[in-house]
Amino acid sequence: MGYNLLKGKRGIITGALDENSIAWKVAEKAHEEGATFVLTNAPIAMRMGEIKKLAEKTGAEIIPADATNNDELANLFTKSQEVLGGKIDFVLHSIGMSVNIRKNIPYTELNYEYFQKGIDVSALSLHKMLAVAKKLDAINEWGSVVALTYMAAQRTYPFYTDMADIKAMLESIARSFGYHYGKEKNVRINTVSQSPTKTTAGTGIKGFGDFYDYANAIAPLGNATAEDCANYCITLFSDLTRMVTMQNLFHDGGYSTTGVSMEVMTSLGIEKEN
Ligand SMILES: NC(=O)c1ccc[n+]([C@@H]2O[C@H](COP(=O)([O-])OP(=O)(O)OC[C@H]3O[C@@H](n4cnc5c(N)ncnc54)[C@H](O)[C@@H]3O)[C@@H](O)[C@H]2O)c1
Repeated sequence: MGYNLLKGKRGIITGALDENSIAWKVAEKAHEEGATFVLTNAPIAMRMGEIKKLAEKTGAEIIPADATNNDELANLFTKSQEVLGGKIDFVLHSIGMSVNIRKNIPYTELNYEYFQKGIDVSALSLHKMLAVAKKLDAINEWGSVVALTYMAAQRTYPFYTDMADIKAMLESIARSFGYHYGKEKNVRINTVSQSPTKTTAGTGIKGFGDFYDYANAIAPLGNATAEDCANYCITLFSDLTRMVTMQNLFHDGGYSTTGVSMEVMTSLGIEKEN
């Protein structure tokens, strides 16, 4: 059941690759909440993905765009306004890719070409989207932009390698751009720091399964699912959160502020009586 939280709002949703994608769930929820939107992804991913099914289900049009390419992003924002009949109210940045992770290269031996590719795809793409949107004046006053991130930006997770540094940059861009876009147009920009989630990007990380279970055992509420994440994103796109901007918002069942849980102590066999 929807609450019409996004009734009349127009959006752009990136990153829906398959039904496990966080963006896929956001699209389903946004549709349920009365929004109209455009779906976009890198042309190469769209051929493999199942995005058409999602487009049919949600009545969305698909406009391909490589998020590292300024011209394609300009086309995305221009065409989206034409298709949707006005300026954009919300944007989901749900894009992440590290060649170093894909190739299992350890952090201390990173390949710098791959590193730069990762930065371009997963962090600079947010800056590029915002810069293009601002230049075209494509986002409505009080519009809301959300980018997805992970807590490795604040704490070290050895297997997250270069994506840790890349996410730190992504979060910083959200703050920095949030200032300028907020001052000029009241546009809000936040990052949501999500629990480990079983998606293509997530499970591509070495040891993901063990880590998923570890986080689940730490968080008092357990790991937040992709669907939970989508619900949170909807609130951030809605007018109910209109004074929230330039924040990194943890959405992780309490994981980020829990030191240790009894489950983990017990599993390590170090729980003592006193
Ligand atoms: N899965 C997790 O555990 C987890 C946890 C925290 C944050 N996140 C973040 O959530 C976001 C979405 O990832 P997901 O877990 O839904 O996985 P996913 O693999 O379903 O989505 C990643 C998307 O990025 C897209 N992409 C890659 N290169 C692109 C490019 N050049 N241009 C446009 N799009 C491109 C892919 O096609 C894909 O749709 C990512 O930023 C990821 O880092 C994921």
